[in-house]
Amino acid sequence: CLVSGSAGAQGAYPNHPISLVVPFAAGGPTDVVARSLGAAMSKTLGQSIIIENRTGAGGTLASQHVARAAPDGYTFLIHHNGMATAPALYRKLSFNPLTDFAYVGQVADVPMTLLGRKDLPANDMKDFIKYAKENGNKINLANAGLGAVSQLCGMLLQESLGVQFTTVPYAGTAPAMTALLGGQVDVLCDQTTQTIPQIKADRVKLYGVTTLDRIKTLPDAPTLQENGLKGFEVKVWHGVYAPKGTPPEAIAKFNEALRAALKDPAFTQKMAELGAEIVPESKQTPQGLQTWLQAEVDKWGGVIRKAGVYAD
Ligand code: MLT
Repeated sequence: CLVSGSAGAQGAYPNHPISLVVPFAAGGPTDVVARSLGAAMSKTLGQSIIIENRTGAGGTLASQHVARAAPDGYTFLIHHNGMATAPALYRKLSFNPLTDFAYVGQVADVPMTLLGRKDLPANDMKDFIKYAKENGNKINLANAGLGAVSQLCGMLLQESLGVQFTTVPYAGTAPAMTALLGGQVDVLCDQTTQTIPQIKADRVKLYGVTTLDRIKTLPDAPTLQENGLKGFEVKVWHGVYAPKGTPPEAIAKFNEALRAALKDPAFTQKMAELGAEIVPESKQTPQGLQTWLQAEVDKWGGVIRKAGVYAD
């Protein structure tokens, strides 16, 4: 047998359920991708994938947990750009994204949308820019903590507008969205995997998308760059990780299930409806994730250090 379970269970891997750790709250964008992916992957694995939401510190508590978990093929992590931004954002990080993990592969890329609460006076991006400059820190910007992509997007937005909002952090953008819908916060930059249903139901104001080009699922939504924020781009990517030292056979099997899921119509249709794009096959591999992660650590490290945003 490849790996024995804790209760002494024998047999081919996997012989009991696998835990997939999600660094943000249930019901949010990362959770939506993780649950759909887990359901599709369990068909190949013949075991269920249990989603474990471990929130806090912008995703870094979940990463730390997985970095220290037993490398037995039964604990995995799904994380986004936050894996690459953490080393620049957290001066005292207890793990190294580039050395403390085994890599499985990438999943899907997701655009973000800039939203205002339904009754915010600004009706479009041009209005919003004016409103933001006039009201500055009277505006409450929700995010999912330092290391969340909602934080990254908000940081770039404030930088490019030359304004400072008041940041309100949540354990994920699911509770942040609840706060936006309830009018407790004014603005949220969040992934289409959570925002599309709210946009379609007209429960929020949509100012624009964060990709350089318009997206298929929201063809009428302008890009932020069209409205004067030249070069503004945040695209969210997702990687699947395991603790370093996880048996290569377990990684290979998990990767096989990942690649099968990325072709599974139930998964691909759901992702397409939510504006997510499955990554090309070259990125669906351990090497494809590792190479990408290294490039992203380099890219965002520079941007974040320049912005001077970090936690001690
Ligand atoms: C974020 O980084 O903003 C998230 O993906 C939040 C989440 O999944 O809740």
